[in-house]
Amino acid sequence: MGENRVIRVMISSKANINLEKLPHHIAIIMDGNGRWAKKRGKFRVFGHENGVKAVRNTVEASAELGIEALTLYAFSTENWKRPQKEVDRLMGLLVSSLNNELKTFIKNDIKLCAIGNLEQLPEKTLKTLKKVIEATKDHKKMTLSLALNYGSRDEIINVVKNIANKVKNNIINTEDIDQVIINKHLYTQNLPDVDLLIRTSGEQRISNFLLWQIAYAEIVFTEVLWPDFKKEDLYNAIIDYQNRERRFGKTSEQLK
Ligand code: IPE
Ligand code: IPE
Ligand code: MG
Repeated sequence: MGENRVIRVMISSKANINLEKLPHHIAIIMDGNGRWAKKRGKFRVFGHENGVKAVRNTVEASAELGIEALTLYAFSTENWKRPQKEVDRLMGLLVSSLNNELKTFIKNDIKLCAIGNLEQLPEKTLKTLKKVIEATKDHKKMTLSLALNYGSRDEIINVVKNIANKVKNNIINTEDIDQVIINKHLYTQNLPDVDLLIRTSGEQRISNFLLWQIAYAEIVFTEVLWPDFKKEDLYNAIIDYQNRERRFGKTSEQLK
């Protein structure tokens, strides 16, 4: 009888990651919380609550590997259209998670940043956010950016307005406007371009996320719903990324 027992040995894909070829910047569209809850006959907010541990695992796994920058899409400029109760719960969850995760950020030397129109966030959310940003500002290992009330078109509109003002005030010449100048005016000004974009839940769209910054990102879509996303899923996405040839317009032969 004993011989028939199947012994399952979990072999992590982590060992298959080439640490010399890590993506500098990973961005994730954390999607599928609502469907995860619905599948269990629960309210959508139950999915958001269960998404928190997936955030922790992803942040930890990224820091452990040595990823420089991780950007997580947590709330879009469009998400205000959701039922007020859900919006309130999401904002509340953010406050409790930030408070709880501060120790993870300290333990892993993680600097927290936020991108988006932050001034429109509820006062309590903004206050907690600013507190954690201040407490982690000297951390060096990884920059974790939370996209909150973030919309890429909104961001680009701001960039255009700021640059237009500088042109008007003779701080910038129109002829000098280039990619470097535009990068410097984005919320992501201190971050490298996104190398790897992951979206969970099987949806294959960008939903107004980092349109400029993903110009040459490799995109991995996975069916996994966000609350089920594990360190292994991140490792597998990185391995997928590492198996691709990034040509940046050149031919395959030119890269050899
Ligand atoms: C992502 O999960 C979380 C946020 C957008 C805040 P959803 O809430 O969009 O989950 P689905 O897409 O409805 O399953
Ligand atoms: C995108 O997810 C926003 C976040 C993950 C925060 P949504 O679930 O809101 O995207 P759409 O509306 O289905 O495209
Ligand atoms: Mg969704």
